Amino acid sequence: MSALKTNFSYNKIKEQFEKMVLRYKRKFRIYGWSYKALRWKTEEAMIIRHQELIKDIDISGKTILDVGCGFGDIIKTLEQKAKKEMPTTPRPFQYLGVDVVTEFINVAKKKYPKYKFSKRNYFEKPFKRNFDIILCCGALNSNFGEETMCFRKNAIKTMFKRCNYALSFNMAGSYPPPQNTQNSTIYFANSLEILKYCLSLTRKVIFRHHYRRNEFTIVMFKQKNIQTSETTINKTA
Ligand SMILES: C[S@@+](CC[C@H](N)C(=O)[O-])C[C@H]1O[C@@H](n2cnc3c(N)ncnc32)[C@H](O)[C@@H]1O
Repeated sequence: MSALKTNFSYNKIKEQFEKMVLRYKRKFRIYGWSYKALRWKTEEAMIIRHQELIKDIDISGKTILDVGCGFGDIIKTLEQKAKKEMPTTPRPFQYLGVDVVTEFINVAKKKYPKYKFSKRNYFEKPFKRNFDIILCCGALNSNFGEETMCFRKNAIKTMFKRCNYALSFNMAGSYPPPQNTQNSTIYFANSLEILKYCLSLTRKVIFRHHYRRNEFTIVMFKQKNIQTSETTINKTA
């Protein structure tokens, strides 16, 4: 498949997407508010992912959209970074988390009442407005069969278009890519194919491929440095 091919239609993955949502709902019924409901193996691994995602980003005064936010737990890592880098700033960043699973959003609203959350299938209906930073942790791992790579590139393109400063996402995959099996719910991407695609959108890219086997993080920056967003996140964004 060409690195630039992204003529993707959500309808092609609708059925598999709905199965993915049901899998999360089922896990939530079993585990409740736990990293296990998000299908993470350990809490430590989840925290490492969050740290890798925001390590290279200046979050001060920025609007942040977290796509596939789960319970919004990346907020803890964002707050730690803010405390370290901007200890005297009263409202160091603005955050909106979106997730397609209503149960996750309901928990997130209770856990982090200072921040905004909204239920949404982001890749079907992205917001029309921009955010300074878009984060996406774990929402690009599902196996949508033949459409998977097309879906992921399209998702990257959509998110990158909608950020003013940086997009940071992670993904299951490696180079050489591990063997994918048809029945697996996770699809391992060829990480170099994804990197090449990101480089076709911007030359300012950080590729983090060292922290876990079969997973990588990419941070993509807009070419020009931006001023901090003057708009405010409201509930409808
Ligand atoms: C592995 S979990 C990670 C949750 C959270 N980002 C974290 O790091 O703990 C992936 C999340 O992405 C959400 N997700 C997947 N596709 C999505 C979409 N199209 N729109 C919104 N959320 C989505 C799932 O519901 C799930 O909560």
